Formats: sequence, structure tokens, C-alpha cells
Amino acid sequence: MFRGIRDTQGKKSDLPITSSNFKPKAQSVPRRQILKYACYIIGAFLFIYLLSSKGNISIKYSDEENFTYRFKNIDYEKLKKYDDGVEQFLVDKDGVKLQGSTERVIQKDIDELYHSTVDYYDLSDAEGSSNGAIDGDYILLLIPLRNAEPVLPLMFKHIMNLTYPHSLIDIAFLVSDCSKDDRTLESLFDLSVALQNGNLSDLLKAQESIKGDLSGTSDLHLGYMDPDYIEKVDKAFNPPFHKDYNEPFNSVQIFKKDFGQIIGQGFTDRHDVKVQGIRRKLMGKARNWLTSNALKPYHSWVYWRDADIELMPGSIIQDLMKFNYDVIVPNVWRPLPEFLGNEQAYDLNSWIESDQGLELARNLQEDDVIVEGYAEYPTWRVHLGYIRNPNGDPNEIVDMDGVGGVSILAKAKVFRRGVHFPAFTFQNHAETEAFGKMAKTMGFRVGGLPHYTVWHIYEPSEDDLQEIARKERKKRRQNEGKEDLSEQTKKKLQQKE
Ligand SMILES: *[C@@H]1O[C@H](CO)[C@@H](O)[C@H](O)[C@H]1NC(C)=O
Ligand SMILES: *[C@@H]1O[C@H](CO)[C@@H](O)[C@H](O)[C@H]1NC(C)=O
Ligand SMILES: *[C@@H]1O[C@H](CO)[C@@H](O)[C@H](O)[C@H]1NC(C)=O
Repeated sequence: MFRGIRDTQGKKSDLPITSSNFKPKAQSVPRRQILKYACYIIGAFLFIYLLSSKGNISIKYSDEENFTYRFKNIDYEKLKKYDDGVEQFLVDKDGVKLQGSTERVIQKDIDELYHSTVDYYDLSDAEGSSNGAIDGDYILLLIPLRNAEPVLPLMFKHIMNLTYPHSLIDIAFLVSDCSKDDRTLESLFDLSVALQNGNLSDLLKAQESIKGDLSGTSDLHLGYMDPDYIEKVDKAFNPPFHKDYNEPFNSVQIFKKDFGQIIGQGFTDRHDVKVQGIRRKLMGKARNWLTSNALKPYHSWVYWRDADIELMPGSIIQDLMKFNYDVIVPNVWRPLPEFLGNEQAYDLNSWIESDQGLELARNLQEDDVIVEGYAEYPTWRVHLGYIRNPNGDPNEIVDMDGVGGVSILAKAKVFRRGVHFPAFTFQNHAETEAFGKMAKTMGFRVGGLPHYTVWHIYEPSEDDLQEIARKERKKRRQNEGKEDLSEQTKKKLQQKE
């Protein structure tokens, strides 16, 4: 397959020279004369080049001050080539700018482009240190979004809550495959501009007071959750926040590109496994696209985050970084209503490989994707989720093989050396699980923290909602005559029934 690709590319680049379609227009002009003019032109270019390049190329900055200076002044976006159907935006405190395509680059830009492309990077400066916040390691924070408008305020609160120096964090969002009436992109614009103005807190407060309770109709389940957990959440979202909570970030970029999505309707449960495999490959494609477009030479670390996290220590980046692993994930759990046991491991994609898992893989087709949590694939692996002890040492680390994508911190060099999120099967896995396996295959250290937990939001399933409605009816009967339910609650109950 690789050979095929190389062949086509080779042919393409040869085209202008060898193609028989190439017919000089003015065939009557003698060849000698053409050569003469060509020499003049080349000479003129050489002259301009020598004149203008004096002192402008081959600048190597070593001290830290000039490191920052350099990156502030390069407009990387002008260097980008664009795929079809991609829109790229840069957000700063003055607003959102749509990045032009390369076709519209004007002469001034070409000059700038020239001077900014000729530059040296010492990648050993960006190897990643276990003490990055002090050593000035730049981090690329990558967040994929799809129909995510409702969770954006939550996500931004967590972004602001990060205690890693905001001036060392570049954020890149990828908005893809949203439904027609979804407003993720627009909402992301508003919130990002406010973030970079340092007044997102005010904007969110204003929005909340207009909308009332943001959680909308799904708050009925809150009465069934562990009160301790609810209290913890309340506390986490109220001041005092850390002192740099409102500080703008080094940069915010938003990419919008669709990758297509598969529709699971009409599939039976058995086929669901296959659907999962295809879905994971598509997500791998999107992740790879985002890494390769957003990663800059000065980034030392890459932090992948899902938007729908409810509770997470603000120091998570430093907490993961200090282990100096190449790839590292925390444990991811979610709260549940008390009648379902209060809590549950959420992410089953972080695991340690087992003999049974390897044996299973040997008997599968090359293209089959093993998906955890399905009866078809009994792997008997050790899942990070299931070895958590709520009172365990958060500094305990175990070596992992597969990793889940909710929260991955990885050294940028892992990506630079070619590890990615396979959009094909790699050792019978795809996307983040295959990423873990591939990193390990290439000799990187992959770890997980069993007792360091981040909490995913709980979204009640249809079954859970029915159970909640049943319990509400029962409560209502018991309370009959004692107190009247509010109109709002009645309406909600009717909807649920
Ligand atoms: C950093 O580099 C810029 C651009 O070459 C230069 O003007 C400036 O004086 C340098 N600063 C220091 C502290 O070396
Ligand atoms: C945030 O700051 C910008 C620039 O100063 C201002 O235009 C905008 O109205 C402010 N927004 C809020 C919600 O305070
Ligand atoms: C914000 O960070 C603090 C300090 O790490 C933590 O206690 C709090 O729970 C975090 N907030 C959220 C919403 O997770």
C-alpha cells in the first residue's frame, strides 16, 4: 500500500518536466534568447535575496527570553496548507479571524512567510520535562467536540481551573460532524473570545442568570445522587479559585472539519461491536488530523481532553507530568444514582494486556477491532477502572497497554516520532487503545494512575430515567395532600412518563 502512494506522488512531482502535454507557447523565440532572459531573472532574484536576507535567516535563539519572543512573532497560520472543506480560525482578544487559504496570500505575506519559515528549532528544547511548569514547557491542549454546546460552559470552567501557567498552553479545538441545528461552533467563538479577554467568568455568570439552571430538564436525577458527591461538585464550581483562573491562554485555535459519522440504527446488538470498530477508526482519523495541524515545534507536551468531565483537580497537568512517563492517563469514573450503587468505572479502554487477550487477537481477522465490554471479546484484561481504591495512593503508577481518550498526557516527541491514533487496525485495536499499544511497541513508557480519579458527567440512560420517574410517582403518592408539586416538576414528570 505504501509503495502505491509513493509511486503516485513521484509521478505527480515529475509531471511539469516530463509531461508530453507541455508545449511552449512561443516556439519561434530562439532557445538561446530564452536562456539569456532566464539568466537575467535568476540573477535579479539572487541579488534581491542576498540584499534582503542579511541577518534575517538562520537565527538561533537559545536563551529563554528570545524563545518566547520568537513564537509570539511568527504567524504560523500563514504557513498552513489547507485541505478541502476545512475552516480554520484564530481567536485572540479582538475576536475570531477566519484564516485565508494559501491562494489568497499576498506579496507582503510571502515576504513574512519567507522570513518566518527560515528558522531553526532545537527539538531537544522540547523533549518534555517532569517539571514543565517551572521549566517553561509549552503544552498543546487538544479537545475534540461534536454536538457539545451544552457542555461548553462546564468545559471552559475546567480549562480556567487549570493551574499550569496559562501562558504556556495553546488550545486547539476540533469541531466536527455536528447536527444541523447545533451551535457548538458559534458558542465556542463567544466563550473563547471572552476567555482570551479574561472575562469569561463574567460572561458565564451572566448566561447562567438568564437561563436559570443550566442543567435544564435533566436535574430531576440530582435528588437521587449521593449528597456527598453533589456537595463536592457544588464546592468545586464555587470560589475561591486559583489566582490565575481568569488569565488568558497563549493561543486558542478552532478547527472545523467533518470526518463523516456512521449511523448505528438498524444494527442488532451483535453488530454493535462492528459499529464500534468503525466509529473508533473515524475518531482516530479526526484525532490524527488535529495533532498534525496543531502541533508546533516548540510544544513539549500534548494533553488530550474530552469536554464532558465534571470533576478534575486543577493541577492535573502537573500531577501527570511529574511521573515523567511518555504517555500517562488518570482513572476515569462516573457518579451514579444511589439506587445504582453511587459510582462506576467509566473508561474501560485503559488496560493491561493479558494472555487471553493476545490469544483472542491471534484468532481474529486482521481487520477485526477488539472492543472492551462486549461478550464477544472476553479478554480478561486488568482494567485501570477496576483496580481503583478510593483511599489508595494517588501517586501509585502501573504500566498500561491500551489507553482511553478522556484525558491523555503525552510527550510531544511521541507524536513527532510517528505514534498516532490508528484509523486502521493495529494489533486488533483502533484509536486510543491502539495508540497505547503503538507507543509501547515503539519503546515508549505508557502508564496509568489507578487511584487518581477524574469524574465524567453522568447522563441518565432511558432505563435510569424510567426508574427515576417511577420513584418520583411513588414519592408523589406518599406526599399527596402534604404539599403540591411545582408546575415545572409536574411537566417534567409528564414528559418522562
Ligand atoms: C531577542 O531577539 C530579538 C530579535 O532578533 C532581538 O531584537 C532582541 O534584542 C533579543 N533579545 C535578547 C535579550 O537577546
Ligand atoms: C469582556 O471584555 C471585552 C473587552 O474589554 C468587552 O468588549 C466585553 O464586553 C466584556 N464582556 C463581558 C461579559 O464583560
Ligand atoms: C478545580 O481545582 C481545584 C484544585 O485542584 C479542585 O479542588 C476543584 O475540584 C477543581 N474544580 C473542578 C470543577 O473540578
